[in-house]
Amino acid sequence: MREVAIIGIGITKFGVLWDKSLRDLAVEASIEAINDAKIDHIDSIYIGNYTSGTFIEQEHLAALIADYLGMNPIPSTKIENACASGGVAFKMGFLEVASGSSDIVLVLGVEKMTEVLTPRASYSLSLACDREYEGMNGITFPGLFALVAKRYMYEFGLTRKQLSLVPVKNHKNASKNLKAHFQNLITVEDVENSPLVADPLRLYDCSPVSDGAAAVILMPLELAKNYKNTKPIKISGIGQASDTISIYQRDSLVTFNATIKAAEKAYKMANKEPKDIDIIEVHDCFSIAEICAIEDLGFFPKGKGGEAVEAGLTEIEGKIPVNPSGGLKGKGHPVGATGVAQIVSIVEQLRGEAKENQVKNAKIGLTQNIGGSGSTAIVTILEVI
Ligand code: COA
Repeated sequence: MREVAIIGIGITKFGVLWDKSLRDLAVEASIEAINDAKIDHIDSIYIGNYTSGTFIEQEHLAALIADYLGMNPIPSTKIENACASGGVAFKMGFLEVASGSSDIVLVLGVEKMTEVLTPRASYSLSLACDREYEGMNGITFPGLFALVAKRYMYEFGLTRKQLSLVPVKNHKNASKNLKAHFQNLITVEDVENSPLVADPLRLYDCSPVSDGAAAVILMPLELAKNYKNTKPIKISGIGQASDTISIYQRDSLVTFNATIKAAEKAYKMANKEPKDIDIIEVHDCFSIAEICAIEDLGFFPKGKGGEAVEAGLTEIEGKIPVNPSGGLKGKGHPVGATGVAQIVSIVEQLRGEAKENQVKNAKIGLTQNIGGSGSTAIVTILEVI
């Protein structure tokens, strides 16, 4: 297997973007990445997208996007793994370059969610849970993660304030990210006074329904080293794992085994441990998910994530900066785009281009992207060479 580097990144503004179609967003992010890499051709395209069929009544994005990028006849492939679609598309692009099958691959993540009203969006998202045993009984993702939060509070005594500090931090980080869905600061009181969505989760515990796209360009590391156009970032480790689709079948509601297994693989491949990592972007689809993620990835012991957040250890200046981009809560969560957007955010940090959100001396970064209630997990480790 060849080693692989990221040589170009692009990302659109995330938010309610009524003036832009899915194909506009896809082309905008891709062209930005191609211009950033300063390349004159691409060999293959992978697209992370969850459910364009139910959101905009358009399938076959692989053909649509190759066509609108003017890149026919190169191969183009769509990958669907719920909210982990972008992360898994990135892995497929990595494998294609690592295998020697292609030299330059574009990986795009894109989702256009706001063409439909919230009930329809909730229904579309709920197709990623177990429809027969969960969805058909009326539960949606806020409800599933509310069960996780309730159980976590019962087992570990997590306080409402500790939970609220997750979105407070992520809105603070997003307020300095011009591409983020939200730029407003919020307080613990704002979180606790926001409308109840699924007890104990309130509006500000939830990631929003967003539009957006993100793209990266991959190249073999050996070629990238001699390629003077950009600062290559090495892909040191990637691990993917699966868990039960229904959360009721799990031994524990508060431990995400797919994250643990994916992280083990990624750390082993990269020959790294949590103590080596300078910065992480995790899948905070709901505030409780960030607390579980920082534990399952090995940064804090189980049950101690809330205390770590309260002590400021996950702030940009903290022991392990978590979601400096604003995360899914602040930056937004166009689901198929999220995994690629996390990679873009880490590359910006490792290149020293994260402006007001820059983490000092960031050399090694990690992303964690999950699908459904953690039924798919993908963890990636990136490194300055
Ligand atoms: N956080 C903060 N503010 C939010 C928000 C969120 N998650 N969602 C909506 N808002 C704001 C809107 O900006 C809007 O503000 P304005 O009145 O100042 O313009 C207001 O709340 C109403 O927006 P609306 O779109 O009508 O909200 P809604 O009640 O229809 O939807 C949720 C709110 C929480 C139901 C929706 O954001 C949601 O379903 N989130 C979870 C998405 C999800 O499950 N993703 C997959 C994860 S696995």
